[in-house]
Amino acid sequence: MTKRIVALLAVLMLVGAACASEDAETTTTTTADATMEDTVEVFSWWTGGGEAAGLDAMIVVFGGDYPNITFENSAVAGGAGTNARAVLATRLQANEPPDSWQGHAGQELIGTYVAADQIEPLNFLYDEENWLDVMPETLIPLISKDGNIYSVPVNIHRANVLWTNPTVLSDNNIEVPTTMDEWFAALDALQAAGMDAPLAMGEQWTAMHLLETVMLGTMGYEAYNALWDGNGDWSSAEVTEALNNYDKLLTYTNTDSSALSWQDAGQLVIDGDAAFNVMGDWAEGFFREIGSEPNVGYGWAPTPGTNGIFQFLSDSFVLAKNAPHRDAAIAWLKVAGSLAGQDAFNPVKGSIPARSDGDRSLYGVYLQSAMDDWASDDVAGSLTHGVVANDSWKSEIDSALGAFLNSRDVAAFQAALVAAEGANA
Ligand code: GAL
Repeated sequence: MTKRIVALLAVLMLVGAACASEDAETTTTTTADATMEDTVEVFSWWTGGGEAAGLDAMIVVFGGDYPNITFENSAVAGGAGTNARAVLATRLQANEPPDSWQGHAGQELIGTYVAADQIEPLNFLYDEENWLDVMPETLIPLISKDGNIYSVPVNIHRANVLWTNPTVLSDNNIEVPTTMDEWFAALDALQAAGMDAPLAMGEQWTAMHLLETVMLGTMGYEAYNALWDGNGDWSSAEVTEALNNYDKLLTYTNTDSSALSWQDAGQLVIDGDAAFNVMGDWAEGFFREIGSEPNVGYGWAPTPGTNGIFQFLSDSFVLAKNAPHRDAAIAWLKVAGSLAGQDAFNPVKGSIPARSDGDRSLYGVYLQSAMDDWASDDVAGSLTHGVVANDSWKSEIDSALGAFLNSRDVAAFQAALVAAEGANA
């Protein structure tokens, strides 16, 4: 069995999912057609920095297919949905759902919205649109429970990307680091050359994003994946080593990180004020939007220690139970799952299509490399973006991280992570 398949099976067991089956609950289809007049409210956190532009491109396709449905864009600003998800939770609590919202394939979707019975199964739409023929087998278990499929994945994002400033590196005779030790050596050299904060970082969720990539890069994909499926050991020496690496990396970051958005942190690299930033590939959508050129204004590589591993997440749209405009929401989901919708959205958003039949020629040089890696790499899931841990576990890790960013006490951090697994796994 290949490593890649072992990893996928582990993730599959993790979510306790099953593929579509004959006895799955199905809902009858919709009367949505090109002439219908209605409104659809769609909720996300894509308000700027490459993200809104991607959504807008898909809204244009939607407007072409359904010219009489008004698109109500209820995006709430804030990277990684930190603000939006709180607003969404309040609305769901009050029984006032938007018709459709952006969720993350994996534990976020299954452990939150499916567990709370807040979204409808979409097997009927998968049947009608033949989506099982084009959506990756990796994803279906992550959006399924008991034979029901619960969302429409619009993309695959890569989390473990090291963005670099090629000019800063070449001016300092530094090669792109591929291991933790090479990375530390590069960071030391840059500090010695007068760059105080060669690794740009932003607000706390971006610190979690850095943490998950350092854990993966230090531990390797098997040990990392095992941490989430109950077969790992959070008290192990490997985790200690990963946390020590993380602690050390923080000494190279900017002191104002908590005040910076992910775009602000990326901008430091583009401007040559930092050499590195670790961020998902939505950063590429942002870099392109501000006019920076691939391989000139920015370079990329797997984060150190993760060559051959694709740490992924997937943005996935759902259908609210009791959606105020159910048919119009289904019309939106059809576009989100369509080839035209995905090939409009993803080249701008900085992601590759979830569908396997995207038109490669529409994608830039970075995204083409991501397509190749997605097709061949081992796969690991993202913590920060909903794949491997449910909301409650993630929130405990986030609290432990917040405390660590103040105390920098590695032993206390590891003890809190062990306790978080005990309470949630
Ligand atoms: C992620 C989301 C991406 C991107 C990013 C930054 O959680 O999946 O699509 O929006 O946050 O906001």
